[in-house]
Amino acid sequence: MYLTPCQERLLEGDEGEAVERALKLLVTLGDVFGAESLTEVKSTHISGVSYMNLGDAGLSFLLEQADTHAHTRVRSTLNPAGMDLERWKELAVPESFAQKQLQVISAFERMGVETTCTCTPYLVGNKPEIGEQIAWAESSAIAYSNSILGARTNRETGPTTLASAVTGLTPLYGYRITENRKPTGIVEVETPVTSDLEFSVLGYVVGAQMQNGVPYIRGLSVASQENLKALGAAAATSGGIALYHIENVTPESRSFAQGLKDLETLKIGRNLLNQAVSKLSADVRKPIICLGCPHCSFAEMQQVADILAGGRLKKRLWVFTSRGVYAEAERQGLVDLIEHSGGKVFTDTCMVVAPVEDMGVEEISTNSCKAAQYLSGRRVEVALGSMRQLLREAMA
Ligand code: F3S
Repeated sequence: MYLTPCQERLLEGDEGEAVERALKLLVTLGDVFGAESLTEVKSTHISGVSYMNLGDAGLSFLLEQADTHAHTRVRSTLNPAGMDLERWKELAVPESFAQKQLQVISAFERMGVETTCTCTPYLVGNKPEIGEQIAWAESSAIAYSNSILGARTNRETGPTTLASAVTGLTPLYGYRITENRKPTGIVEVETPVTSDLEFSVLGYVVGAQMQNGVPYIRGLSVASQENLKALGAAAATSGGIALYHIENVTPESRSFAQGLKDLETLKIGRNLLNQAVSKLSADVRKPIICLGCPHCSFAEMQQVADILAGGRLKKRLWVFTSRGVYAEAERQGLVDLIEHSGGKVFTDTCMVVAPVEDMGVEEISTNSCKAAQYLSGRRVEVALGSMRQLLREAMA
């Protein structure tokens, strides 16, 4: 790989051990993928934050980085942690877990990372421009930034995003190059898709069928930011979708509209959607309703409050969002409305990255196929429903 003289000096340790180590990792990664050079990134979004996933080995790695003065050179935000950093006792998170989790957060803080603890950094100020090179981890945020915002990132990991944060660099390959952003298959949606759950299920089916291709989706003319957030998160879960185009909706769809005629077409009708719901959904009796995978936007907080509209919940409800959205929702009285109905609004975490089994949770119902898929491998039963359906049933 070609390195500039300045990059060569970084690799020789001119700016310290942390930068040298981070650049070595990125150069190795670039060599594996045949990158010819490095490129600068405008921001990073770092995953691998929950102590549940990191364990002691991950925590030691982060402490070592901080102790050797690793420090961000570009704006860097952080994915959710394993608990609400302030209200973890209300979630019944074990004390021993909480202490380790706080050490993880403190290590990131020492490195200059903004401890946003959300998977929707684009809703709280880290919103890249079209064409901007970024190094993001968190599959749902990658799919959103590539597809909806037109930014450019590969499917990065916790260590590679931290290395990019410390150097401001990443190898130039994959989705960073226009040629690799072309669609690899067409998806014709032949059934109306309207609810939050349906968009999530559609994403799940697209991902399962196209794995890590680049779908060009037709038949969806109306989709909100929230719908697309749900679709991309699910597509990145059942497959490895990092980028998709929706005809006349996503920013790069027009530039790739020519040259589609040789691509295979996958038709998605009601049956495929129903099959996916059956596969992911189990019978539950007293679930906790969990909303906010990916983290709720302000509009979703508003929807929850509108549906509850002063009623009283007969089931437990946990809503997960970012601190930025929470602050606005609190100012507008939405948090109070939800909590007066018996729900709880938490920040910094979600039902997947929290140690729910150790918190006494046995059953969850959700509108997110991503959450359903990840929880299905654990000791938790999951049922799917749309936000409206789940909340209405819980008030009946
Ligand atoms: Fe976000 Fe947790 Fe879902 S990190 S995308 S809410 S699994």
